[in-house]
Amino acid sequence: MNKPIFLIGFMGSGKTTVGKKLANCLHMNFIDLDQRIVERIGMSIPEYFTQYGERNFRELESQILKEQQDERAVISTGGGSPCFFDNMQWILENGISIYLYLTPKALHTRLQQSNIASRPALQGLRDEALLQFIEEKLDERAPFYKQAHIHIDQINTSLDTICQSIE
Ligand code: S3P
Repeated sequence: MNKPIFLIGFMGSGKTTVGKKLANCLHMNFIDLDQRIVERIGMSIPEYFTQYGERNFRELESQILKEQQDERAVISTGGGSPCFFDNMQWILENGISIYLYLTPKALHTRLQQSNIASRPALQGLRDEALLQFIEEKLDERAPFYKQAHIHIDQINTSLDTICQSIE
């Protein structure tokens, strides 16, 4: 494989967890785009959102995404990364993309159990309001995610199948 693999999907879809495992079984490097951004800005993503706003975050995210040149890497993107500017087009042209799909209900369960404070888009959302937000945002973002080369139902697909499908 001489192209990077981009994992895309909604917050809570398991991009980081699956990315690490995939990198391991394919003997590739693992890059977490959010982590790269945090290293660059020297603060957490919620802090950056508060101080500089989402627009500046999206510009920086796009710039750091397009700096990724490691052909031997599995890259876990942020949930919004493919949905701004020409990022999805760039992802399609520069690597193999995998969409980790989960239903809004499954995402809701996982996000309720996760650290909501680390995700600025979810601040203050719980229960029904969180589910409604997920349904609306997923509708908005699905046209980008669905352009991915490979679609994976993360809950029902074992990692071995994922590895085999792209080896
Ligand atoms: C975002 C998702 C986050 C992070 C930022 C914005 C989004 O990444 O990039 O908080 O808009 O969906 P994860 O998908 O890794 O949570």
